[in-house]
Amino acid sequence: MRKIIVINGPNLNMLGIREPEIYGKNDFSSLQDFIKLSAKEFGFELDLFQSNHEGAIVDKIQQSLNNYQAIIINPAAYTHTSIAILDALKSVALPVVEVHLSDIGNREEFRKFSYVSLYAEKTICGYGFEGYRMALEYLSNKYL
Ligand code: DQA
Repeated sequence: MRKIIVINGPNLNMLGIREPEIYGKNDFSSLQDFIKLSAKEFGFELDLFQSNHEGAIVDKIQQSLNNYQAIIINPAAYTHTSIAILDALKSVALPVVEVHLSDIGNREEFRKFSYVSLYAEKTICGYGFEGYRMALEYLSNKYL
């Protein structure tokens, strides 16, 4: 079966509590349920991973080699800072779709640059939970 991993970065576990005017009122467990349902729709086997720690995310990306056919990642704040996550993604060389709940191009200046976009073949921003479903649909059509 086609197997992918969805990686969520720091503070996404605080969804529903954190800045609801930006990220919405639904909590992280409802995001996970939504991603699971969407994965089923496209016939993917799915693993979900969330961490607040950069190194743990790097470890998980490295372990994705030979275990998954593609990675969907919302690196959260590490998007804008982490060369280590970019390098890990380049190391495993799997197809990557980057997702952001908010439209990072229309917020503070410091959110406009994404290291991960330097490798990700597609970036989906500003569609809330639906962005993860769009990422799954994209991978389903293009690769898997
Ligand atoms: C985010 C956008 C980032 O700038 C921010 O640091 C996040 C969430 C998003 O999903 O919109 O934590 O990745």
